[in-house]
Amino acid sequence: MKPRKIREGVHWVGAIDWDRRLFDDLIPLPDGTSYNAYLIQGSEKTALIDTVDPTTSHVLLSRLNQLGTEHIDYVIANHAEQDHSGALPQILERYPEAQVVCTPKCKAMLVDLLLAPEDRIMAVDDSATLSLGDRTLEFIHAPWVHWPETMLTYLREDRILFPCDFFGSHLATTDLYVTDEGRVYEAAKRYYAEIMMPFRKIIQKNLERVQGYDISLIAPSHGPMHDRPEFILEAYRSWVFDEPKNIVVLPYISMHGSTLIMVDHLVDALVERGVTVERFNLAATDIGKLAMALVDAATIVIGSPTVLTGAHPNVVYAAYLANALRPKVRFVSIIGSYGWGGKMVQQLAGLIPNLKVEVLDPIIVKGRPRDEDFAALGKLAATIAEKHNALNLQ
Ligand code: FEO
Repeated sequence: MKPRKIREGVHWVGAIDWDRRLFDDLIPLPDGTSYNAYLIQGSEKTALIDTVDPTTSHVLLSRLNQLGTEHIDYVIANHAEQDHSGALPQILERYPEAQVVCTPKCKAMLVDLLLAPEDRIMAVDDSATLSLGDRTLEFIHAPWVHWPETMLTYLREDRILFPCDFFGSHLATTDLYVTDEGRVYEAAKRYYAEIMMPFRKIIQKNLERVQGYDISLIAPSHGPMHDRPEFILEAYRSWVFDEPKNIVVLPYISMHGSTLIMVDHLVDALVERGVTVERFNLAATDIGKLAMALVDAATIVIGSPTVLTGAHPNVVYAAYLANALRPKVRFVSIIGSYGWGGKMVQQLAGLIPNLKVEVLDPIIVKGRPRDEDFAALGKLAATIAEKHNALNLQ
C-alpha cells in the first residue's frame, strides 16, 4: 500500500499488521492491528509523528521513500512503547539530521528501552510548540495514557490531534477513516478495556483537556482515523465517566458440572429480575471479551470449582485480570463447589484488593447443589437486583 494523503503535506505512512494475533504476548488481537505513523511536511521543516513496530520498519522506510522524503527534521515520539518507537533506530540511521522530540520521561525511556542516542533527543515541556514554518505542533503532556511518559501532539492549523494509543483500536483495515462505527466501537472498547481502563481516573482529566481543543480529525496510532471525533469522544466519556450499567459479569469454570448447574440457575434468576448477564466460560472465552464486559458491569460473580484447595487456575487468572483492570464494578460475589474442603473464597478475595466493592455472601456448595443452595442462589440474584435498583442503574 502506498502512503495515503490526509491533507496537503500530511500523509499516513504507517504499517498494517493483518496477521498479528497477540500483543505483548498477552492481549488477543482478533482483527490484527496497525501502527500508524504520519509525515507532516511544513514549509520549512518536516516532522514524522511516531514510528512503527520494529517488525514493520521496512514498511515505514518504504513509504517515506515513495514520498521522496530526503530529510526529516523531527521525529515526534508520543509514546516510548516499542510498537511506536521500535523503528526509531532505523529512522535515525536513515535520517542522521533528525531530532527526536518527546517528554522528559520519554527521553529517559527511549534511552533505556532502545539505547537511543541521548544527544539526538529533545525533551519538550507541556504545551510547548514547534514551528514547521506554516504549521505548528503543540505538545500536550498526557501521563498514564497509558504509560507515564505519554503525550499527544496537536497540529494547530489543520486541527488534527495525534494522540497515539488514546482513542485507538486494534483493527487491521484498508479504511483510512472510520466507516463502520459499530465495528470500530467494539474494537475501540476492547482497546480501552485492555489498555486504558486501569488508568480511568487519570484519563478523565486528559479527556477533559482534549475537549478544550478544536479538533477536526483524531489520528491515533492504531486503527482508523476519526473524522467524526465526537463519535469516539462520546464513547470514551461513557466508558470513563458514566455509572456502571445493570449488568452482571459471570466468569466461570465447571469441571464436573456442579458449578455449571449453579451458574445456569443464577443466570435465570437474574434475568427474571431484569438484570443483564454476560457469562464467560473461561475454558473457551476470549479474555478480551471479558475485559470489554467489565467496562460497564456493576457486579462480578465468579464461579469456580475447588482444585487443590483453591480456585481453578483459569478463574485465578480472570480474578487477577479484573483486579489489574480496575473496572468501575460495585459488587462482587463467588459461587462454586468443592469435594472435601478448601479455601477458594479466601484465595479469590485476596486477589482483588484494587476493586472497591461490597462483597455479597458467597455460595459454596459441597458436591451437587441441593434445594437450599438453589434458594440461596435465588436470594443472591434478588440481592443483586435490589442493589442495582437502589443505584438506579440502567
Ligand atoms: Fe500502542 Fe502503548 O502502545
